[in-house]
Amino acid sequence: MSSREHWASRAGFLLAAIGSAVGLGNLWGFPYKASANGGAAFVLVYLAVIALVCLPLLVVELLIGRRTGESPVLALAMVGGPRWRWLGYAMTLNAAVILAFYSVVAGWTLLSAGRTLLLGLPADPAAFFSSISQGPLAIVGHLLAMLFTAGVIALGVRGGIERLSLWCMPLLFVLLVAMAIWASTLSGAGEGYRFYLQPDLQELLRWPTLTSAAGHAFFSLSLGLGAIITYASYTQGQEGLGCQAGMIAAADTAVALVGGLITFPLVAHFNLLGSLSESTVGTLFVAIPTGMASLGGLGRWLAVAFYGVLVLAALTSAVSLLEVSTAAFIDRLGWSRRRATTLAVAAITLLGLLPASDSRWIDVLYTVFGETGLLFGGLMLALLVGWGQPRLEGEAPLVVRRLLRWLGTPVLLVLLVQSLLHLPQVVAPLLQS
Ligand code: TRP
Repeated sequence: MSSREHWASRAGFLLAAIGSAVGLGNLWGFPYKASANGGAAFVLVYLAVIALVCLPLLVVELLIGRRTGESPVLALAMVGGPRWRWLGYAMTLNAAVILAFYSVVAGWTLLSAGRTLLLGLPADPAAFFSSISQGPLAIVGHLLAMLFTAGVIALGVRGGIERLSLWCMPLLFVLLVAMAIWASTLSGAGEGYRFYLQPDLQELLRWPTLTSAAGHAFFSLSLGLGAIITYASYTQGQEGLGCQAGMIAAADTAVALVGGLITFPLVAHFNLLGSLSESTVGTLFVAIPTGMASLGGLGRWLAVAFYGVLVLAALTSAVSLLEVSTAAFIDRLGWSRRRATTLAVAAITLLGLLPASDSRWIDVLYTVFGETGLLFGGLMLALLVGWGQPRLEGEAPLVVRRLLRWLGTPVLLVLLVQSLLHLPQVVAPLLQS
């Protein structure tokens, strides 16, 4: 264990964990899902799930990682006994599948940023987006994103992940706040805010709203698949876990809310709210550049900043997903970091060719692995810690265990069943063709 890597500083760990949480889920998924699912109603469910279910689980993942100093497979076996090892494998596989499509979307942001920086905004954003969202260019984007992610992970915990987070996260925050302030000065900002947050309380009573808000909360916080366990396994300190969990959740939620404060005023200002209601995955990749183009030369640089934020957010998250698989090879098989990274990247890159060639796979993989899979992982952790006898040396705070037992377990069970029932509907379009 002495050879195991560690973060150089507490701030480094926190920024890395926040970097994992803050990602495309916040800036691209959250605003668009909120507006499509009842605005403030979605936000309310989201906040409730974060406070009551996700926060306790976040504490648990941090605790498991720190206590065991191992990645999920060994960590869960140590905490729950060998019978729980399978959950670690399931989480590791889930991380690999999520990265396979996540890296495709990260590729869209890289290509959009690169194109805007080098050549300016495309004349026809819709055509440009459809050319990069699936097919050869999407594969190029996917390869670039995987290459970058692999490079960071090969450099290790301190030299790669921590260094990346220390640079990227502050830059991301500054850019985000600056853009939100700028967006608030646009005419139409008020209309955008209303569209974003107008509560449609009837939505609160629909299962899809509830499951998508809850699933999204897990995805956004990187919960339910051992990414936080893995990152926390490189920490040593004694600091309050509740405090760390609170900071990660607060930063993640703040970025999600601010993300919407940028996109909706912009979309309203450019009169594109109508096109949003068709809410396809690509709306923001089309709506934003369309609007920015009308601002002339300035628009190009604003678009570069906008895509730059997306790139930073996407890469720091992709890195955390890859670390789960890499750490599993290192810890389980004793491989060198280089070898582990190479094998994990090769497998995930291959798998990603599917969503890169046909973007309908992204929705399907997201729902199956990014929503249902994470709810399942969360439920298993709630069972282990809330009902089982986890070997955590009496350290799982009693509130956390009670919350997971009496609230987390039933809530997750119901949500999981609902989301399983919903799956055939999501997969059907793919099977029909
Ligand atoms: N949380 C990231 C986002 O919001 C995605 C992500 C990174 C993730 N690591 C994860 C999701 C682990 C689930 C589990 O975009």
